[in-house]
This record gives sequence, structure tokens and C-alpha cells, in this order.
Amino acid sequence: MTKYVINGGRPLHGEVEISGAKNAAVAIIPAALMVDGVCRIENLPQISDVSTLLSILKEMGAEIRLVNKRTIDIDCTRVGTSRATFDTMRRIRASYYLIGALLGRFGSADVAMPGGCNFGGVRPIDQHIKGFHAMGAHISIRNGIVSAETDGQLIGSTIYLDMASVGATINLMLGATLAQGMTYIENAAREPHIVDLANFLNSMGADIRGAGTNVIKIRGVRRMTGGFYSIIPDQIEAGTYMAAVAGAGGHVTIKDVIPKHLECISMKFREMGVTVVDREDSVIVKSSEPLARSHIKTMPYPGFPTDMQPQISAILCLARGTSTVTEGVWGNRFKYVDELAQMGADIRISGNTAIIEGIPYLTGAPIKAGDLRAGAALVIAGLCARGETEIGGVSYIERGYEKMVKKLSSIGADIKSVYVPDEQQLEEKEAV
Ligand code: EPU
Repeated sequence: MTKYVINGGRPLHGEVEISGAKNAAVAIIPAALMVDGVCRIENLPQISDVSTLLSILKEMGAEIRLVNKRTIDIDCTRVGTSRATFDTMRRIRASYYLIGALLGRFGSADVAMPGGCNFGGVRPIDQHIKGFHAMGAHISIRNGIVSAETDGQLIGSTIYLDMASVGATINLMLGATLAQGMTYIENAAREPHIVDLANFLNSMGADIRGAGTNVIKIRGVRRMTGGFYSIIPDQIEAGTYMAAVAGAGGHVTIKDVIPKHLECISMKFREMGVTVVDREDSVIVKSSEPLARSHIKTMPYPGFPTDMQPQISAILCLARGTSTVTEGVWGNRFKYVDELAQMGADIRISGNTAIIEGIPYLTGAPIKAGDLRAGAALVIAGLCARGETEIGGVSYIERGYEKMVKKLSSIGADIKSVYVPDEQQLEEKEAV
């Protein structure tokens, strides 16, 4: 069991490099299952969600060769099974992309579902199922296994999504790539990683148009062959470091980003008084003190991303006046608020809105991450706080952030990763 220990109150200075986008990587890796030949994928983030997905592909018979720490060759030519029902599947949420990839390649799929959502509520997949059904698949879910069958191949169709679901758009785009005929996904999600997946598939021989708009048109192709692809930078990782600088103070260049993808985040920081200067492939962030309050509502791209909601809420705890943060994508994503309250934050939840009264400072405390972005928010709170913050549950953070401790240390944070033996944890529990 690892914990992060942070001594807060140190401003951040220097440069930090952003890794490849987690949510693009977890779609592109399953997509490699549909390619005949070797896919070279560059700029892969070194995070546990990526290694978990790669081990699932390996278990299915894929050959994976590490070219360097960020580049791999994946050859799925020898994968001969449409079953992916391993225990490892339950560790990551993106495992459902194997349904689209396997249905596309084999016309059938048996895939273990990930467990329930840990940031609150359930994560339904009815839109994925509706889409595959429209494409001729018969789907059943039994004992946590999704089984999908076709009469040989998916058939192109027109699918209207009830909400702009990222996962359904990606999954249906995967299936449609090798389907027979045309597929239209209407009310499609427009996130940068959806465009990235379409670019990856097109570079391997797919015929996808309109990704990045709300109607995606996919002409099914017979096969895709190998090639090279480099994953886009992680918009949310970049936003997280921007929030860290805005909250803890300092002046940091955030490198290897696409500033256009960050606009929805940068604009909010500017409203809060933070200086954000866009360069060609970096943004410079300079804090101001104190932050101005803000009112934020999360929305699908190009709205303010839900995956930045906990991080921005953490720094609004220190803004002047009353801020509101309304969650517009997920039913409930405020579990981390109880942890921030232990650090002195004054946050009240009313329905889907957090009402945050700015306070002069947060105080370090022992707290626990319950999910990935909540964990990032707690790290940011720890960097801003007076005194020591000890954060448990860091495996969630490591699912999606590459070397966060190293990156933050390199810009002046006092943060370390500390191994705590399980026995000690047990004793601590018993002592309570
Ligand atoms: N929804 C349905 N039915 C569906 C699909 C979605 O009702 O069939 C609802 C969800 O309950 C939610 C909304 O639609 O209220 C949006 O869900 P979406 O499908 O867009 O989310 P997702 O694909 O499951 C991805 C990211 C999440 C991110 C959301 C929203 C991946 C692997 N996950 O999830 O990322 O919050 O899009 O942008 O790409 C994270 O990185 O921390 C993370 C949780």
C-alpha cells in the first residue's frame, strides 16, 4: 500500500511535460485488435490502465513488443478468440471497448464488464447496446458477461444517441469500422480523444468522417492493415497541472499540449484571475493571489470537462467569495468533498451543485482518494494546504496519471510516495 505525503504551501516553478491521453490510449489499444498487421503506437502514457489493457490483449494472443518506454508494436493477427472474460477486465472501465472491437473483427464478443462506478452511481451502457442492436447484434448480459452475436458481421445503421456518450460513440465507431455498409452516429460525442481514435483507425485504412462533429459517418471496410500512430497529449493531465499551479501559486510551462484542446479549461482559469498564455505546443500558467470565485457547469466537449470538476473545486475552496460547480455529465461526482472538508474546506452539496465558500487556507490531513480525478483533486489540495497531507488510495491516481510524484517534485512540490506495509495499516485500523 502506497501513500503520498505532501508538505503544502510551496509554489511551483519550471516546466512539466504532459503524457499521451489516457482516454485516447484506452480506446486505441482495443482498436488494434481489428488491424491485420503491426500497429506501432507512440506517446503511450505509462499508467496502470494501459498496462492492464495490454495484458488483456496479451492473454488473448496478441504479440506486444516494447520499442521504447512510450512506444509499442501490437500485432493482433494471431488473436483467434472473441472471448475476453478475464479477471483483469474488471479492473478497468474501458474494457467495454473490446465489445466493439471484437464484434467488428469476429462478429461476436464475450466480454467481462467492469464493476460499478466508484465516483458514485452506476455507469450504464444502454446506448452502446442500443447501437449494436441496431447494427444487427443480439446482446445478453449474464453474470457480469456481455455476450453479443451477429449473423456473421455487423451491418451499418443509423444510430441516434440519447446523450453524447463518449463511450458509446467510441464503441460504435469501433464496431462500424469493419461492418458491412454505412453507419451514422448522430448526437455523437466530440471529445478530442474521439477524433484521435478516428485518426488512428483512418491511418490503418478505415473510412471515418465527421469525428469531432456531432454526426460521424463510417463506411465499413473489409480490413485494416498496420501502420504508425502517435497519441494526442492528455487534456485532463494538462488541466490538472494548471489547477495545481493556480492553487499552489507559481509560474510553470506546461509542455507538449494542444492549447486548443485546453481552451474550455484555460478560459475558466483566466476568469479566476490566473494568467494563461498559449504557445504553439505549450501553455504558460502564472498564478494570482487570491483567486477570483467562479461558476462552472461541466458539459460534454467543448464544455468544461467533468474530469476536471474535482480539481477545480479543490482550488475554488481558496477563492475569494462563493463559487458554484454544477456537475452536468454524471449523476453524482462529489464523494471527494468529504475529504476536502477534513482539510477545512467549506463545501455544501445541493443536488448536482457544489456550493463552495472560499476560505483563507486549507490544513493538511490524512485523507483518501476514492477515484482517479478525486485523487488528483486531493493532491492539489495537499499542495495548497498548510502542513502535511497524507493521501491513501493512490492506486486510483496511478491508473491515469504518469509519474505524478516525479513530475510535481520536478517543479518544486514537496511530495513523496511512501510505502506503508499492510500490517501497519491493520494496526492503525485496530487502534481506532
Ligand atoms: N450514459 C448512459 N448510457 C450509456 C452511456 C452513458 O446513460 O449507455 C450516461 C452516463 O451515465 C453519464 C453520461 O451518459 O451520465 C456520459 O457518459 P459517457 O458514456 O460519456 O462516459 P464514459 O464513456 O463512461 C468517458 C471517460 C470518463 C469521462 C466521461 C465523460 C473513458 C475511459 N472514460 O466515460 O473519464 O468522465 O467519458 O467525459 O474515456 C476519467 O478519465 O476519470 C473518467 C471517468
